[in-house]
Amino acid sequence: MSKAEGPVRVAVLVSGGGTNLQALLDTLHGSTVARVVRVISNQSGAGALDRARRANIATTVLRNPADPNELLAALHDAQLVVLAGYLKLIPPAVVAQFRGRMINIHPALLPDFGGPGMYGHHVHAAVLASGATESGATIHFVDEVFDRGEIIAQERVRIEPGDTPDRLAARVLEAEHRLLPGVVLELARRIG
Ligand code: GRF
Repeated sequence: MSKAEGPVRVAVLVSGGGTNLQALLDTLHGSTVARVVRVISNQSGAGALDRARRANIATTVLRNPADPNELLAALHDAQLVVLAGYLKLIPPAVVAQFRGRMINIHPALLPDFGGPGMYGHHVHAAVLASGATESGATIHFVDEVFDRGEIIAQERVRIEPGDTPDRLAARVLEAEHRLLPGVVLELARRIG
């Protein structure tokens, strides 16, 4: 696809509240580089879907997130796919179709504290229990295994005395919001 055809079409997969989606929508508003064209969720009640609707962006609720054909149909015109708090594994046939064009944001410094079961509160509790002095946010390409693909960017967050999983999560989330839009723009410039 060439730049003459307009902004790179981005699809965002979500399961939760969608603050990362919102950071992306705010940054890409009016952008000639990239545009969110669809928000896809496995959860019909996801707050992220409300954010998409408020921004007049098409939404899809997946009936079966493990069905590659349903997901591929929802992604039919996407050039770049962003997993922003999406909790399901991407079927291998979909990974194959979007290799190098599908990214995930994770609230820790991968390769540590990733993998099945390492999401939300569990991640931050495990980081604090480990005695680590820092955590952070990681953006990586998606492959067939949870949280394993090639790392693209990280932002570090210091662990403060008296941190709780909630307090750490809040600071990591701020780092996510800074990190994600820039990476999406950079990848879109490469793709477009
Ligand atoms: C973020 O911490 C993200 O890294 C993780 O789930 C959280 C989603 O937050 N995978 P939100 O839905 O973007 O607010």
